[in-house]
Amino acid sequence: MERLNCGTDDVVKNMLAKLSTLWKTRAAVNNPQPNYWGLAFDADKHDFSLSLLPFRHHQAWLEAPQDLQSKCLSYAWGIYNLKTIYIECNVVVPACEDIIKTPPPSNNRALLQDVMSQALLDEALHTRMSIMACNYIYDMRKLPPLDFSAFNLVTWREALLANCTAEWERRLTRFGVACASETLITDYLKTMAEDASIQAVCHEVTRTHAMDEWSHSSVFSFVASDIVNGLSRKEREYLRAIILRTVQMFANNEMGAWSNVFSMLDFPHAGEIVRDVGDNNEISVYTDSLEALIDRIGLTGSGLSSAEHAIETLGEKARA
Ligand SMILES: [Fe+2]
Ligand SMILES: [Fe+2]
Repeated sequence: MERLNCGTDDVVKNMLAKLSTLWKTRAAVNNPQPNYWGLAFDADKHDFSLSLLPFRHHQAWLEAPQDLQSKCLSYAWGIYNLKTIYIECNVVVPACEDIIKTPPPSNNRALLQDVMSQALLDEALHTRMSIMACNYIYDMRKLPPLDFSAFNLVTWREALLANCTAEWERRLTRFGVACASETLITDYLKTMAEDASIQAVCHEVTRTHAMDEWSHSSVFSFVASDIVNGLSRKEREYLRAIILRTVQMFANNEMGAWSNVFSMLDFPHAGEIVRDVGDNNEISVYTDSLEALIDRIGLTGSGLSSAEHAIETLGEKARA
């Protein structure tokens, strides 16, 4: 994507208008939904890409019986979709609603509301697709569904919001976490969307979602450019810190969810796996995308102080 001239309302206006028009033909919600459930179920296929399992190299995993490994891969699909649903409902939707209900001061006010209401519809469909695809796998595999809500990105965001002292901070927190997530979700969906060796329904549902999210990363970038345009230096520094910090939370291994799954399955040496694997995922997969975003929306240079200091301050805020 080209670098934006953030000072020009027209650049943003033209792009938002173009994206809004494209949505009418390209978005999944505007096209007939394929009958995913008509796709053949193959019990021998994995329900999830093995390369995404955070403990795939751990000795206890490698030594586990195949049947147990297969159940873990079905639950990996469950965790992946539940996390997706939490991102859609608890992170992205509130940011869309902010802009729809009280748009920022901008000459592009109506367009901002237009594209955000489109994204809101898309996310509702994605949530529906995820929950149906999860339940389909639980049914076919005869597995009890996983209930879990403490995803790291969501709890971190809530802690930040609880410690904000001004409304502008709360609003930029909601927008910044959503904007970063909308950029990262394309990377998050990519492996499953491209892995044709997995269960057909899992591959197809993820592929359809990934295509919509490709557009959303542009939509959120241009909306962000418009918002950044009207921010003070202090507000820009705050938004940049939120966006950069989101990557660590987004990429988290979610071992809390895995702990629950391991106890449901009575998985041997589960405690060792949870202890050895830890929180940090391969963040480098995501970092490049966010640095490009920061650059694209005009949050580099222009007299902003160091990002490290701002991120450190945020860390203190979330812990307070
Ligand atoms: Fe989505
Ligand atoms: Fe999205």
